[in-house]
Amino acid sequence: MSSASDSAHREPVKLGVLVSGAGSNLQAILDAIAAGTLHAAVSVVISNKPGVLALERAKKANVPALAIPHKDFSSREQFDRALVAALQNAGVEWVVLAGFMRVLTPEFLGVFGDRLVNIHPSLLPAFPGVNAVRQALDYGVKVTGCTVHHVDGGVDTGKIIAQRAVPVLPGDDHDSLAERVHAAEHELFVSVLRDIAAGRVLPLVKLEG
Ligand code: GRF
Repeated sequence: MSSASDSAHREPVKLGVLVSGAGSNLQAILDAIAAGTLHAAVSVVISNKPGVLALERAKKANVPALAIPHKDFSSREQFDRALVAALQNAGVEWVVLAGFMRVLTPEFLGVFGDRLVNIHPSLLPAFPGVNAVRQALDYGVKVTGCTVHHVDGGVDTGKIIAQRAVPVLPGDDHDSLAERVHAAEHELFVSVLRDIAAGRVLPLVKLEG
């Protein structure tokens, strides 16, 4: 039998958050941890772009914040090896892609692929890739939303963990719809991370060797 107080006896799950931009999802995670509603610790935040707001948000929360510019590496594999080393140094257990705009190679997936989640601003498999909110508006769907999923080698592919629907309202433009999708993302991501912290979402079973 488990009880609500069980989480108090477990170590908080150690998250590494990879970002490339504004970091509003990172902020939602940091806020939930600070509020005591997510039993986790962000051990490190890493951006492939220096100077982004997400790194500032991490520093403000006293979380180690690193820029590892992908442009400094001559191959994707070398960049991914540097990411893996930084995440392992920080003792990360689960990796969270929160607006991270790079596709990860087998170098990375072979180490963290079973404990890796991404958030995407559409109801996958619809509208993968960039500009998902624009794609949904242009297509004329009446419902869109967001998805948290495990990550494989594709673009926004991998086993779906959870989704939240967001209606497209008459008169919506890109900004109004993006704002509501973003708000849904913040709730959904934190809720999935709670499930990870509580062992309700488990690492994927590694198939190879
Ligand atoms: C989010 O819409 C996320 O789904 C996508 O990139 C955006 C990142 O936003 N992968 P933020 O940096 O968390 O504000």
